[in-house]
Amino acid sequence: MPTREYSELMIPMLLEHLEGHSRDGGAGGRQVGGPARMPLVLDVGTGEGQVARAVTDGLGWPVLGCDLSWTQVAEARRRGGGPLYLRCSATALALSGSSVDAVVACLLLEHVADLAGVLGELARCCARMAACWW
Ligand SMILES: C[S@@+](CC[C@H](N)C(=O)[O-])C[C@H]1O[C@@H](n2cnc3c(N)ncnc32)[C@H](O)[C@@H]1O
Repeated sequence: MPTREYSELMIPMLLEHLEGHSRDGGAGGRQVGGPARMPLVLDVGTGEGQVARAVTDGLGWPVLGCDLSWTQVAEARRRGGGPLYLRCSATALALSGSSVDAVVACLLLEHVADLAGVLGELARCCARMAACWW
């Protein structure tokens, strides 16, 4: 279960931030060779997926969650919901450049030694919206 800090503060702030960027000319509704599509969000260091699930539940956007830990990825998959999960490191994201519309990294950066490497990877994969983390 999410803590109150998550459910009442962090997650609403995140959803507002993503939705705001989308409205302000981010990826929301942009044409990609056909009808408008939902922005794709990458949740790096997803853990058991509570932030990823909150984005799919709250905004209805597709989310890809990744984590270094197989245990966390397995738990996120077990909990289900809309997001898809893969195991990879934030320092070597298994994605092409500019392949997602927004990147979220929640409570991750304090766990990584190579901060510049992680920030570089977040920026490389993010096509449109600001990456956000805290
Ligand atoms: C405090 S948890 C935060 C989980 C989730 N973002 C949340 O807010 O509930 C930090 C997560 O970062 C993951 N992590 C740590 N170093 C990582 C790295 N280099 N690449 C990807 N994930 C990493 C850990 O396995 C852990 O699941």
